[in-house]
Amino acid sequence: MKIAFFSSQPYMRQPFAEQNAGYGFDITWFDVRLEAQTAALGRGFDAVCVFVNDKVDAEVIRVLAAGGVRFIALRCAGYNNVDLDAARAAGMTVVRVPAYSPEAVAEHTVGLMLTLNRHIHKAYQRTRDANFSLNGLVGFNMHGKTAGVIGTGKIGVATLRILRGLGMELLAHDPHENPEALALGTRYVPLAELFARADVISLHCPLFRENHHLLNRDSFARMKDGVMIINTSRGGLLNADDAIEAINSGRIGALGLDVYEEEENLFFTDKSSEIIRDNTFHLLSAYPNVIMTGHQAFLTREALAAIAHTTLDNLLRLSRRQPCDNQIN
Ligand code: NAI
Repeated sequence: MKIAFFSSQPYMRQPFAEQNAGYGFDITWFDVRLEAQTAALGRGFDAVCVFVNDKVDAEVIRVLAAGGVRFIALRCAGYNNVDLDAARAAGMTVVRVPAYSPEAVAEHTVGLMLTLNRHIHKAYQRTRDANFSLNGLVGFNMHGKTAGVIGTGKIGVATLRILRGLGMELLAHDPHENPEALALGTRYVPLAELFARADVISLHCPLFRENHHLLNRDSFARMKDGVMIINTSRGGLLNADDAIEAINSGRIGALGLDVYEEEENLFFTDKSSEIIRDNTFHLLSAYPNVIMTGHQAFLTREALAAIAHTTLDNLLRLSRRQPCDNQIN
């Protein structure tokens, strides 16, 4: 099978190349993102392998299908960047990696919480400059505070498990109650109660059309003053301009983002010498109580190896016409 591997970065190429020794696929690495302008590169391949910011819309699918591509292998869990209807109509099969290391994302999530709470990002800068003043570095005990987790699938539960270890009261909201979350002592509550009671709110649900901007001006208005919000799920779940208003009013006390709605043209590349024309991004990155990381919550050695293994296994099954549990259309 010939695979066109888009958005290829060294940290991803290495585990795929290592795992592929056991599969023997013919992989061509493309640094560029898959989008309308690059879709023609897929001509003559059986499969494309794509990541979160590749844009697999109807136009791209049309070009890929005309070039003979039959399989779209997502090397991530979320699939909001693929037009599944267009793929189905073109007779293309889409597979993903539903779980590779929920703990990787959960640990980064809690890392953002602790960093924001204890101002570790500021302390790091100060001590490098021999500034040992503690003014402005006061945090709060996580122990005894209330966490509100929205979405209690694999990552949500892994996050709840760590937060229980910190001694937090656990609230959650999800249309489906997860027995693993209940076993941790989590109480499922309506969104309104979670907003009203949580000191720390963390998003772990997928992005759908229905929950776009789930956190917006109206929801911020219903939260506690000084609430901490963490989004390591998908940028579109949070209205960033409304969040800026809520930071300015003091409603949001701290904001940790590993994802950003407009990340598509920013993340995964070095933009340090470019003029970034996104004022929302500039504002967010200027606040002392906002931390942004560039969609790296998944980035552990264990997760990368698992991603490579599952992706190549998915493609092996498809090439052998065997059933594949990770097929999404
Ligand atoms: P999962 O499929 O195991 O769980 C998702 C949960 O969200 C399910 O229990 C579902 O019922 C719930 N849900 C769906 N709509 C909801 C809504 N409107 N309100 C509340 N709950 C809702 O997914 P998993 O593996 O836990 O991943 C969650 C998300 O994390 C992914 O969809 C992806 O967007 C994001 N992610 C981010 C990564 C990163 O590096 N930052 C890496 C991997 C995933």
